[in-house]
Amino acid sequence: MIDLNSLNALLDAAKKLDAGFANLPPFEPQTPGAARIAEVLTETAARLQDNYPYFHPLYAGQMLKPPHPIARLAYALAMFINPNNHALDGGRATSALEKEAVAEIAGMFGWDKHLGHLTGGGTMANLEALWVAGQLAPDKKIVASEQSHYTHRRISSVLKLDYESIPVDNHARMDLTALEKRLVTKNDIGTVVVTMGTTATGSVDPLPEILKLRDRYNFRIHADAAYGGYFSLARNLAPQTVTAFARINEADSIVIDPHKHGLQPYGCGCVLFRDPSVGRLYKHDSPYTYFSSAELHLGEISLECSRPGAAAAALWATQELLPLQKSGEFARGLEQGREAALALYKKLKSGDKFIPAFEPELDIVIFAPRPKSDSASLTEVSAESRRIFEAAAAKNLHLALAELPAAFFQNLPATIRRNKPIVTALRSVLMKPEHALWLDQIHSILISV
Ligand SMILES: Cc1ncc(COP(=O)(O)O)c(C=O)c1O
Repeated sequence: MIDLNSLNALLDAAKKLDAGFANLPPFEPQTPGAARIAEVLTETAARLQDNYPYFHPLYAGQMLKPPHPIARLAYALAMFINPNNHALDGGRATSALEKEAVAEIAGMFGWDKHLGHLTGGGTMANLEALWVAGQLAPDKKIVASEQSHYTHRRISSVLKLDYESIPVDNHARMDLTALEKRLVTKNDIGTVVVTMGTTATGSVDPLPEILKLRDRYNFRIHADAAYGGYFSLARNLAPQTVTAFARINEADSIVIDPHKHGLQPYGCGCVLFRDPSVGRLYKHDSPYTYFSSAELHLGEISLECSRPGAAAAALWATQELLPLQKSGEFARGLEQGREAALALYKKLKSGDKFIPAFEPELDIVIFAPRPKSDSASLTEVSAESRRIFEAAAAKNLHLALAELPAAFFQNLPATIRRNKPIVTALRSVLMKPEHALWLDQIHSILISV
């Protein structure tokens, strides 16, 4: 089940790495014996069994994608060194790998110059983007849609920046009329966070129209593409989604999470700025670092201090194997997830057991159980979602649940009792290429429970 074949490649690569230090006098590491290590490792494996099978295609719940074998192996290989990409003193080789890998991501968005680096994840990356935004417009507000990631509000509060949310339309995208109305009333919005793939539904905010508003009202645009960013490479998106991704290069900053769709282990986000001169905002004194080289140390342009060089090694190796190209194997993997999502949406729509919300924009499908009676309440629909979630899990199909505005489900019978604004719906993130092949099994379990 778990891919073990590639472990031999790790042994060979570890020997190669070791050979690079052959000039050093040998020494005995102060570690416990191999037998005790093996014993504790086996114990750890037993503890790790208590997990959902994220790597399996029947895990179709949350945004959890197994790292590519090359990423796992390169990370493990780098662990023999454990570099720290804060300073070149801590991670010379992996700082170079990080700069290259990040430049490739910037290139995917059409930026041939940028300022950026890896972070612990999307939240840290967004924090950094909003920290820069806040320094450039300290008295102005941050706004993001009601469906943006919940951390934007919290980040703004950490940064002591005013925050406001903008309503969404029935497809979970930022409502343009509401945004414009807000822009017209007061000249107090400094940054609009545009979500390029919302966490709950994978909806993409209408970036081209928001860019038009920027021309008129002059604000900064931060694209939170933590989830959706890699879909810039997919060729099977709806035309308006393609247009939105095609203009992401006009944002002032972009966040993308290699640990979501970039096949990386957790601990790998990325923040990018279009204008490299924002680097001046990071200026700080650090009397105990940055002494080995006059070249850029990534810690000079990053809020976090220590960061894993291993994450850079894993990302660089993955992009070396699977370049970020339209029509490449990496892009194909994303397209397969989208195909799976569209296929599931169509099957659910044509059947009589579920009512999907809108057509998926990326690879996330949202659906509610069709009420047994036309006078059922949203409370009953929510309870049925929870029952199905449990019953599917008992058959090894792992879905997710999401609390969503009932307005997303336009096809629920008009007679249904809308006794609350929110309904608990089923959510399936079909982010593994294998999901396309397993769709019939996933669907047949869904209709059987
Ligand atoms: C759109 C979006 N932004 C930000 C985040 C936060 O990212 P992380 O969990 O890597 O901190 C997420 C996580 O799901 C997300 O979907």
